[in-house]
Amino acid sequence: MSIPHSSATDKVTLLTLQEKKRRREPVTMLTAYDYPSAQALDAGGVDVILVGDSLGVVVLGYENTLSVTLEDMLHHCKAVARGARRAHLVGDMPFLSYQVSTAEAVRNAGRLLQEGGMNGVKLEGGREVAVAVEAITSAGIPVMGHLGLTPQSVHKLGGCKVQGRSAGSALRLLEDARILEHAGCHAIVLEAVPERVAQLVTDRLKIPTIGIGAGAHCDGQVLVTSDLVGLFNDFTPRFVKRYAELQTEWTRAVRAYVADVAARRFPAPEHAYAINQAELDSLLEVLDEGAVPARS
Ligand code: KIV
Repeated sequence: MSIPHSSATDKVTLLTLQEKKRRREPVTMLTAYDYPSAQALDAGGVDVILVGDSLGVVVLGYENTLSVTLEDMLHHCKAVARGARRAHLVGDMPFLSYQVSTAEAVRNAGRLLQEGGMNGVKLEGGREVAVAVEAITSAGIPVMGHLGLTPQSVHKLGGCKVQGRSAGSALRLLEDARILEHAGCHAIVLEAVPERVAQLVTDRLKIPTIGIGAGAHCDGQVLVTSDLVGLFNDFTPRFVKRYAELQTEWTRAVRAYVADVAARRFPAPEHAYAINQAELDSLLEVLDEGAVPARS
């Protein structure tokens, strides 16, 4: 049997990510939640698009990610999948979609690929999710791990705090990273971890680490796109770098529109459609005959 050639030859795959680690080339990852943001990220050349459950906070307005459901994720994954061609697509498994049973974890991960159009999934946690990771990867589904500050455990962690600051917790994080690698994860997100600890983890793993608030020595970097472009202003973590102020720009545009409509500057003739003069004449003739009652 001959192996068919892929039409999207520049599609980023797990091999691309592994190769980048080998060559010490940074992996780039950003979040997207809809069709236009997926198009923008793909056009911008990002390697991995994550449909993160940060969706709950930065798009749906929840206080944390715990309210996000699998149906929410599927809805947004489908939109992102329609907008992206090149990037590797990862869908976050929301709270309680992989913790209850291994069978449910595999089924739900599968739905993110089969229905959501993702190429892989991400889930949070260390040794406690190793069995789920093994089962999901055994089903042929790539799994990205997530250690450090894991927002789905915000209540257990006592808030959104930097993790791995003591020798004991850093050692546990390192062990968890090794367990996840052994269970089959192809990459691990390290969130809000001291830079030196993230470096120690990165140096000890064969798979890429992707940092967010974990310093410069990870194999890749990820940010929440709404933070990056200034579309979420409720709070901004220290590790965010802003590259644009889109919400400010958006508000400016809305104010200009409101002022234009109020002053009858919009719509202008170039925004309106014309009717052929003969058609208009016959319409007016009918109206003059009173065939069509005028609106009271
Ligand atoms: O949900 C998300 O956006 C994430 C990133 C912060 C890595 O998990």
